[in-house]
Amino acid sequence: MTRRSPPHPSAWTALAPLAALAALAALALLATACDRPDRAPAPPPPADPWVLESRAADPRWAVGRDAFRTCASCHLADGGGRPDGAIPRLAGQHAAILDKRLRALRDGTRDVPAMWPFARALSDDEVRAVADYIASLPRPTRVPIGTGSADDATVLAGSTLATTRCAACHGPRGEGNPALGAPRLCGQHFGYLVRRLTEMSEPGRADVDPRMRAIAVTLTAEDRVAAGTFLSRLDCDADEVSP
Ligand code: HEC
Ligand code: HEC
Repeated sequence: MTRRSPPHPSAWTALAPLAALAALAALALLATACDRPDRAPAPPPPADPWVLESRAADPRWAVGRDAFRTCASCHLADGGGRPDGAIPRLAGQHAAILDKRLRALRDGTRDVPAMWPFARALSDDEVRAVADYIASLPRPTRVPIGTGSADDATVLAGSTLATTRCAACHGPRGEGNPALGAPRLCGQHFGYLVRRLTEMSEPGRADVDPRMRAIAVTLTAEDRVAAGTFLSRLDCDADEVSP
């Protein structure tokens, strides 16, 4: 009885290109299957999804977009910031609020060391243009809204708190009020909201609006979590609370 010896390794090496060809053919078949006319073809991905096409022709808007390139390394190209709250979402914030903050950062009245060199590099015109550009950015789709505690009681407590104690300045849907200097809060990262509320209640911070500080000092740790949970879930654009 003869034992069949396993194929010599060099036989596999010789077969490898064939296997690769077969794999390619399978992929091509798959691609054709996906192209079947009864399936709606996927729209081509926009080259620059966060660019509002209608504004791209406006030269001032282009100045803002160019100035924002240095900001994008931290705030990300879509202005979405970081979900852990270390870097705020900027996209959609009111231009007047951004303008005021950037000037305060630039002049040193507001102390955010990470931001200083970048704010300082901006001329007056660039501050205005970058503020307008950021305000024009749509809600970043990448950012998960609705972080923070998921339990209904916390969301409800946050909703009550926001309606009774915050809406007078920040608006009933957290949309902000530039005339009062109150930033837009809906869809902001939970971690950022809680951190800012905590910072603003600390007596050492000289760079906080006194009206906001008067509120911040009255909030308990649970209040901050509840407000942050609710506000981070508010989708300012869709006008609804995400699940
Ligand atoms: C090196 C990283 C980095 C770069 C680059 C950067 N930022 Fe920031 N930015 C931060 C961080 C971190 C914070 C949050 C600071 C905090 O919450 O204390 C912040 C906060 C902000 C805020 C809110 C400030 C406030 O008053 O709380 C604005 C507005 C802002 N950045 C705009 C910009 C713009 C416009 C640019 C580009 C010109 C830019 N940032 C570039 C890191 C950066
Ligand atoms: C009397 C008006 C007023 C009320 C009421 C008020 N705020 Fe504010 N809030 C402000 C102003 C003005 C600022 C801007 C502070 C600054 O830039 O120093 C602010 C800033 C904030 C910020 C910081 C946002 C950022 O981007 O840095 C948070 C968070 C916040 N408010 C949450 C709340 C919550 C939650 C409530 C209700 C419990 C509330 N505010 C009630 C006026 C108000």
